[in-house]
Amino acid sequence: MKILVTGGAGFIGSQLVDLLLAEGHTPIILDNFSNGREENVPTGVKTYKKNLLSKKVEKIFKKEKPEIVIHLAAQVSVAKSLENPAEDAAVNVLGTVKLLEYSIKYDVKKFIFSSSSAVYGYTNEAIHEEIPTNPISFYGTSKLVSENYIKLFHRLYELPYTILRYANVYGPRQRSDGEGGVISIFIEQLLSNETPVIFGDGNQTRDFVYAGDVARANFLAITNADNQTINIGSNTQTSINQLYTLLSNHLPSSHQPRYEEKREGDILHSQLSNVKALQHLKWEPHFDLDAGLGTTIEYFKNKKEE
Ligand SMILES: NC(=O)c1ccc[n+]([C@@H]2O[C@H](COP(=O)([O-])OP(=O)(O)OC[C@H]3O[C@@H](n4cnc5c(N)ncnc54)[C@H](O)[C@@H]3O)[C@@H](O)[C@H]2O)c1
Repeated sequence: MKILVTGGAGFIGSQLVDLLLAEGHTPIILDNFSNGREENVPTGVKTYKKNLLSKKVEKIFKKEKPEIVIHLAAQVSVAKSLENPAEDAAVNVLGTVKLLEYSIKYDVKKFIFSSSSAVYGYTNEAIHEEIPTNPISFYGTSKLVSENYIKLFHRLYELPYTILRYANVYGPRQRSDGEGGVISIFIEQLLSNETPVIFGDGNQTRDFVYAGDVARANFLAITNADNQTINIGSNTQTSINQLYTLLSNHLPSSHQPRYEEKREGDILHSQLSNVKALQHLKWEPHFDLDAGLGTTIEYFKNKKEE
């Protein structure tokens, strides 16, 4: 099938493109490379270097007539969403609405969306999809508003969808600069013999899920879980202090982490139930944290040697 992957040059999107190719599909990438990388794009994959908000995006739909749209392109930073809420809303909300309009106009069969655990806000227990949403960042809000547009486009125009709410994704190709995740940043710092920084007391927990598993969830959504909103996580909480200890076992360091003030918009605890993912998507994680850290460290080591 011809599948338009927005954000296909990014961390998760590019691993999805690899998987789609391996499964015999024809992925087409739409990415403005603001955070994506040329080196992530496999040779021969048709790539449109365009902003989601560009008028030219409609032409891509008209020309390519994709059967499926998998929408990953986004402003991905919680901090940037707090600094510039309008920019976040423009890319994340308006960008999504435009893709939905073109999907209706050009007869797309299904719309698959990358949402986030950020839609839930503060919680204490393992999060089920049915609990009330209460985002505490503009990023979380822009994802939630996009979800509501997707559901309404389904109600009004019968566009099938699957919404995937990811936990904290990590793995090869994640950036280790400002927009990266804590795992890639720690690995890079440990490999460079720098002092890692922990924001807050380090007892805050995250649910870490491996990027290859997330790519597989998107692939499964092509044929499963129509019109469902589904968590993609490991159903396990790991504190940042525990994560640091796990990483130090792989990469011994003479540095103790430095603790700095907690960041605004960061939630305290996160653990996503994945019962619904197994039921509707036939998905469960294949990588536990230690195995995933092993392959991620290998990737960063090889990259350093290049
Ligand atoms: N990484 C995580 O932990 C995580 C967690 C929850 C949800 N998500 C969501 O998953 C999706 C993929 O995230 P990622 O971690 O791979 O990030 P990423 O930044 O690597 O990927 C996003 C891609 O979108 C592109 N992009 C950004 N703005 C664009 C625009 N205006 N027009 C066209 N392309 C644009 C970037 O160049 C990049 O390649 C995002 O929607 C993100 O919100 C990620």
